[in-house]
Amino acid sequence: MRLKNEIKIIGLKNIPLIKEGDNVTEFIIEALNKEGLDLEDGDILVIAQTIISKSNGRTKNLNEITPSEKALELYNSITLKAKDHGLTEKNAEMIQAILDESKKIIKEEHVLITETKYGFICADAGIDKSNIEGEGIVTLLPENPDNDAEKIRIALTNKTKKEIAIIISDSFGRPFRIGAIGTAIGVSGINPILDMRGKKDLFGYELQSTIVGQVDSLAAAAQLVMGESDEGIPVVLIRGYSFEFNEKTTIKTILREKEYDLFRYNEEELVTRILKNRRSYKLPLAIRKVKRKLIEECIDLARWAPSAHNGQFWRYIIMDKDKRRENLINEMNNKLRIDLQIDGKSNDFIESKVGKTKDNFIKAPFLILLCLDTLDLEKYPDANRTQNEFILGIQSVSSSATYFLLALEMKKLAACWYSAPLFTKEIIQKCLQLPNTFIPMAFFTVGYPLKPIKTPKRRELNEIIYKPRI
Ligand SMILES: Cc1cc2nc3c(=O)[nH]c(=O)nc-3n(C[C@H](O)[C@H](O)[C@H](O)COP(=O)(O)O)c2cc1C
Repeated sequence: MRLKNEIKIIGLKNIPLIKEGDNVTEFIIEALNKEGLDLEDGDILVIAQTIISKSNGRTKNLNEITPSEKALELYNSITLKAKDHGLTEKNAEMIQAILDESKKIIKEEHVLITETKYGFICADAGIDKSNIEGEGIVTLLPENPDNDAEKIRIALTNKTKKEIAIIISDSFGRPFRIGAIGTAIGVSGINPILDMRGKKDLFGYELQSTIVGQVDSLAAAAQLVMGESDEGIPVVLIRGYSFEFNEKTTIKTILREKEYDLFRYNEEELVTRILKNRRSYKLPLAIRKVKRKLIEECIDLARWAPSAHNGQFWRYIIMDKDKRRENLINEMNNKLRIDLQIDGKSNDFIESKVGKTKDNFIKAPFLILLCLDTLDLEKYPDANRTQNEFILGIQSVSSSATYFLLALEMKKLAACWYSAPLFTKEIIQKCLQLPNTFIPMAFFTVGYPLKPIKTPKRRELNEIIYKPRI
């Protein structure tokens, strides 16, 4: 197929305001007649979604909507963000309408990006307040725009006996650029894409990956004539674009599947993945170097953990792989040996116990020591409250440790929490010359994983949610 070097884009001016039940095809034929135009083989008609929605009765009165709890929650969470971005406030009724039209919320920031029931990912589920008369009335996207395009194409072909294509278009914003452009949301007679793979370029090289989004390009071109506001040109004739006629087409072929969509993520899915994938990595770690900056970034996030009286009693000590660390681990292991000998354990048992962690503690790219700083714990005159306050300190440090582990998981680093420091507090304090208010609580080995590890079983929900009898 050879592309021509001229394409005509002609707006049909004489389309009246469309009402529910109107026959769009009839109006198009009348408008063509008034322009003195006859359809020709290879013509493409780009039709604005608004008139399809109106003729299909796909409008809604926001005043008749009662927002659900979810809509009110969303309203509260996005309104401030919208104001910060200088956008007008979306009311809860509009949010409810968006929810009703959507399969899924993809992003809730200053705008709502959702996946519509037909599969488009766009702002506000494509609901539009413009180009429709009546306070509170909005247009919804057509339920099946491919069907609508097909019906119009067949009706026009029956009347004119011409092989034409129909594109239903809307204007969509784009993730990486400012400015909405005409985008095809329904097609008939034309493939959404023009697959150039295997064809030769100017210099004879075979194109490897070029797929042209032809219907979107045509919709964008048509929009230059259609306009966005009061131009009143909802149908545009494109003449001169070469394409292969195809009866069986759907816009769905260009809706990227979730698995291949590198940019799509949903906060809930992402956080769930991090929460579930974090593992205690106890195997030897990869030799690959870990940047200290990454560890510091994770500790930075661990600062946001909750703590009793917001005391933030956690102190992190980052230990590089060096002689000082090795000496510390050897000293700790000497103490462990003595403890186990006192317990009456065999030499084999003792050496295997010591050997298990020794290598990791010494060889892990980083070993992080987490301490509880007791300096700022509340002071009480009685032992009971003093002990409880101490527990609060430990709980707070543990919450930061959890944040730290999750942050490491987010950075794809492998780590394990070890309690060895608890049993060798004095040695650590002495070797590292820590302030005497610091109590060593845990070690974290950190590095890159070598291989995937098994997920230990979790208790069932009904085992851990205990229902007291009364
Ligand atoms: C307070 C605490 C202390 C831990 N101490 C050790 C330890 O000394 N040695 C060890 O191999 N794992 C230790 N772990 C890791 C646990 O064995 C691990 O979290 C548990 O088996 C669940 O596995 P997962 O973290 O991969 O889900 C500790 C974990 C916590 C929370």
